[in-house]
Amino acid sequence: MAFDGFQDFLSSLESAGELKRISTPLDPYLEITEVADRVMKSPSGGKALLIENPTGFNVPVAINCFGSHKRMSMALGVSDYESIADEIRDLIKPEVPVGLAAKLKMLPKLARLATIPPKTVSDAPCQEVVLTGDNVDLAKLPVLHCWPQDGGRFITLPLVFTYDPNTGKRNVGMYRIQIFDKNTTGMHWQLHKVGAEHHRQSEESGKKIEAAVVLGGDPAHTFSAISPLPPGIDEMLFSGFLRRKAVNLVKCKTLDIKVPADAEYVIEGHVNPDERRIEGPFGDHTGFYTLDELYPVFHVTAITHRKKPVYPATIVGRPPMEDGYMGKAVERVFLPLIQMMVPELVDMNLPVEACFHNMAFVSIKKRYPGHAFKVMNALWGLGQLMFTKMIFVFDADANVQDISECIWRLSNNIDPERDMLLTKGPIDVLDHASRAVGYGSKIGFDCTKKLPSEGFTRRWPDAIEMSAEVKTKIDTLWSSLGI
Ligand SMILES: Cc1cc2nc3c(=O)[nH]c(=O)nc-3n(C[C@H](O)[C@H](O)[C@H](O)COP(=O)(O)O)c2cc1C
Repeated sequence: MAFDGFQDFLSSLESAGELKRISTPLDPYLEITEVADRVMKSPSGGKALLIENPTGFNVPVAINCFGSHKRMSMALGVSDYESIADEIRDLIKPEVPVGLAAKLKMLPKLARLATIPPKTVSDAPCQEVVLTGDNVDLAKLPVLHCWPQDGGRFITLPLVFTYDPNTGKRNVGMYRIQIFDKNTTGMHWQLHKVGAEHHRQSEESGKKIEAAVVLGGDPAHTFSAISPLPPGIDEMLFSGFLRRKAVNLVKCKTLDIKVPADAEYVIEGHVNPDERRIEGPFGDHTGFYTLDELYPVFHVTAITHRKKPVYPATIVGRPPMEDGYMGKAVERVFLPLIQMMVPELVDMNLPVEACFHNMAFVSIKKRYPGHAFKVMNALWGLGQLMFTKMIFVFDADANVQDISECIWRLSNNIDPERDMLLTKGPIDVLDHASRAVGYGSKIGFDCTKKLPSEGFTRRWPDAIEMSAEVKTKIDTLWSSLGI
């Protein structure tokens, strides 16, 4: 189901009892964080919050809108986002249809794909108010100062639109935006991300790069911005696929960039070549502050918005937080695509507590000696999974969604020296322990049953399991035992 923008999504949340309005004034300086953090850490993620009176501003702040399995599924227009993984699995089946019946079965799939390319419109809610020149003032937005040691106020749910200077292909990524003054901000596209690559290319030709920072719109756009799509795959096409309806795009007022017409706010501007400024510190996804570093600078040329906008926000910090629910949805929706590259992969779990990039528990159909090591190397070579610091590979019968089972299996099944693989490579730039920003070591553990062909000459014991007959008998007796 497609939403008619972010406020339409908020209405759906409210109808489903998933949104709490707060009329008590709360300060965007730390106070909204303290309230949102308590709610996000409640069982199952609490409710979305609409802070109707942020102190000093007349624009409401919406937060924690994606912060539960249910709301994340609602954001993607489904009752459970696992169904999107099933659809993707079905879509990428490598079979060529044989016979008329099989071809006819393909038609709905093809029809769905035909409707998803974005369309251009000329009239857009996100441009009901247009502010340029001296009228541009970022101080008017209720941007949060999230944590005490943060370097300032940060836009935390921005969708950053750029075009590849060489191919002209669009990218949309979520990169936080620190407010420096009324028309200047930081641009936190980390070095491995596509926005940073677009900027590097523009720097090579000595030209500035245009960028548009979008807030709100159908929540499918937000999910697309955080999705690890390969460079060149259009996030707005993906959003169209998710919402089963083409995304309406409108040309920016001061840029050659098209943005979703249904957005709440659009901040238009450019990033110069060779200009850097200190950005941060910022209380981050890891639960620690990322330290201040030099980052590109975004110069704002226009702000456009709805007549009555809502400001979408999140906070990140020590897990579990709203981003944990967003990341889990990415893990589940993208599993079929990872399995396309690594077909022996049965399941994977990037635990929220490990902030996703730090740890992966995966299960595989092990077929040959060294298979677990092959899978580790494949994952370290695959998109943003390159950031994974620790990978634990289990046999197919392990339930990797059960961390207690994983710890039981790994601690029993490994001989650390024999079963570990140490390597080096790119690391998430948020990692504060690595030897350099964005570069460090990784470790993998083969927690599978060892094979004679791997030089294992001892006998491997079975895991203890009661016989099925006895289980069934005790099941029938259970209620009479008075336990
Ligand atoms: C709430 C939130 C904030 C994020 N902030 C940043 C950020 O400041 N910089 C960054 O490079 N990635 C950030 N990310 C992760 C990227 O959005 C994510 O890696 C995305 O896939 C990048 O898109 P790209 O592959 O098109 O570059 C954030 C993700 C979330 C959920």
